[in-house]
Amino acid sequence: MNVLVTGATGMFGSSLVDALDRSGVDVLAMTRSKSSAQKLTRGNVTGVVGDLDDPSSLPALMERADRMFLVSPIHPELGRREIMAIEAAETSGIAQVVKLFGAVRHEGDPLDTQHQMSLDALASCSVPWTIVSPQTVMETNLLGQIEGIKHENSMYASAGDGRIGMVALCDCIEVAAIVLQADPTKWAGANLEITGPAALTYSEIADEMGRALGRPVSYVDMPEKEFAAMLIEYGFPDDEDLDLQVLCHFRQMRSNKANLVTNTFQELAGRPATSIYEWTLAHRELFANV
Ligand SMILES: NC(=O)c1ccc[n+]([C@@H]2O[C@H](COP(=O)([O-])OP(=O)(O)OC[C@H]3O[C@@H](n4cnc5c(N)ncnc54)[C@H](OP(=O)(O)O)[C@@H]3O)[C@@H](O)[C@H]2O)c1
Repeated sequence: MNVLVTGATGMFGSSLVDALDRSGVDVLAMTRSKSSAQKLTRGNVTGVVGDLDDPSSLPALMERADRMFLVSPIHPELGRREIMAIEAAETSGIAQVVKLFGAVRHEGDPLDTQHQMSLDALASCSVPWTIVSPQTVMETNLLGQIEGIKHENSMYASAGDGRIGMVALCDCIEVAAIVLQADPTKWAGANLEITGPAALTYSEIADEMGRALGRPVSYVDMPEKEFAAMLIEYGFPDDEDLDLQVLCHFRQMRSNKANLVTNTFQELAGRPATSIYEWTLAHRELFANV
């Protein structure tokens, strides 16, 4: 069985390629660059060149694939890009599409509009499909806090006191890998929402990280404008990307739209989801005081 993984150099795609490779599954790891494709090739993994902005690059890849894991970057063209991939998969008669969505309730914001376009295309497609929906991910939220924690034992964000069921990347990947190796009909039509074991505020997350690191960590909550100014000062481009990539996510967290906690990981993997405390212990060297 060959699984085509789009976005194979990105956060989710690269981890999934590793997980499938470890399980002995043949993977077609898609990237837009020839040199990245060469670097991705090893073991059960073959790097392949494809571009969701160039639909003519897709049919030949789909012909070689039995299943597809569809992930594309947060971008104003996410919907159109993913529709291209879904249409190409359907035409080639692939056996399963697993799409990465999300469990934060973005409800009508520009990111949600893009994902909904892709979800609508899936709903009307004849291929068995499953959606894997991570809650906001620990790696995305907490790796950006390394410098503040290392130097000042402080975390900076704009999440207010919203509760967040933050999830570890490895748990999301484990679920995706299980679904991609199961009978495609087993979770056909399901939206598997993967979350951490509890919904915590950023202050509580800082407390849990401090407990794991053996020293107190405090959370500094910033109004959105000040937070945006700090990101720009640290080099984030001051354009529409700032809102789409960062600010809209914190807006949803502040409004408790990321507070969902599910049992899905436990049900599929047979053990509890990774907590903030466990995740921090596993990454503690990154946060060591300088
Ligand atoms: N982070 C979170 O907390 C979270 C939670 C839930 C859901 N999500 C969802 O996760 C998705 C983003 O995943 P990610 O963080 O893994 O993305 P990512 O790290 O930004 O990487 C995506 C990859 O897609 C490739 N790419 C870019 N443009 C492309 C194109 N036109 N055609 C084909 N490939 C292209 C790039 O690889 P090459 O340059 O090698 O081509 C890139 O490495 C979004 O849908 C987001 O809504 C994120």
